[in-house]
Amino acid sequence: MNDFEGLRALVTGGASGIGRATAELLAARGARVAVLDLDPSSVDKPLLAYRADIRDDASVRAAVAAAAADLGGLDVLVNNAGIGAQGTVADNDDEEWHRVLDVNVVGLVRVTRAALPHLRESAHAAIVNTSSIGATAGLPQRALYCASKGAVYSLTLAMAADHVREGIRVNCVNPGTADTPWIGRLLAKASDPAAERAALEARQPTGRLVSADEVAGAIAYLASPLSGATTGTSLAVDGGMQGLRLRPVGQ
Ligand SMILES: NC(=O)c1ccc[n+]([C@@H]2O[C@H](COP(=O)([O-])OP(=O)(O)OC[C@H]3O[C@@H](n4cnc5c(N)ncnc54)[C@H](O)[C@@H]3O)[C@@H](O)[C@H]2O)c1
Repeated sequence: MNDFEGLRALVTGGASGIGRATAELLAARGARVAVLDLDPSSVDKPLLAYRADIRDDASVRAAVAAAAADLGGLDVLVNNAGIGAQGTVADNDDEEWHRVLDVNVVGLVRVTRAALPHLRESAHAAIVNTSSIGATAGLPQRALYCASKGAVYSLTLAMAADHVREGIRVNCVNPGTADTPWIGRLLAKASDPAAERAALEARQPTGRLVSADEVAGAIAYLASPLSGATTGTSLAVDGGMQGLRLRPVGQ
């Protein structure tokens, strides 16, 4: 499939996990792809790599400008970089709330703001944001993370409305627990990593974690010119966790 032939894409958080799988898939389908990441040292050709911290507006502007110049423009922006947080509302202080919202919400805004002038020049402009099942389901011990991803979901709708008449589509994916280095780090911290992994798998009706490639496939679907009539939607990639209510096995 070559639906991205001639298109230029920027993927934030593209050095690892879902972002890496997305950058590689878009490139395999014909796009020229730039990765923006805190640490892009592992990113290989044909992907282009730009170091930036999405908490820092100047570094974002410089990286987006460099990527757009090197690619000759931008058609697709994947706002995927994000960080986790654990605990109830009682567990994190103001500083931690500001830190996580600064990356997951304001970081997305900074990158989009810098990319918009380039996207406006494109005949197939699309933005895909990585939200989470945490935007639409109440997950225990994830108050701050869920708040940040709920904001990404709402921003997706607001941005879709603001930019539809400029020809820019905006959608998001809502992954369930995905088997990426992020989850590897989370499991490594658990007192019993195997039991924690089994609990995460059991939470999903498919009985397994989502793969980074499966999320990348959904992002590519929403970013593709083939989805030209799709804007302001969220696509669950969660093994059925949001929508299904199964009876216990054997009942
Ligand atoms: N893994 C999951 O279970 C899961 C589920 C739902 C949603 N998500 C979302 O998917 C996205 C990617 O997650 P992942 O599991 O691939 O994580 P990951 O940790 O494997 O990759 C995240 C990437 O983002 C980059 N990054 C982090 N902070 C940054 C910053 N300030 N500036 C620039 N780059 C930064 C990291 O360097 C890293 O390369 C995140 O937004 C996450 O919230 C993940």
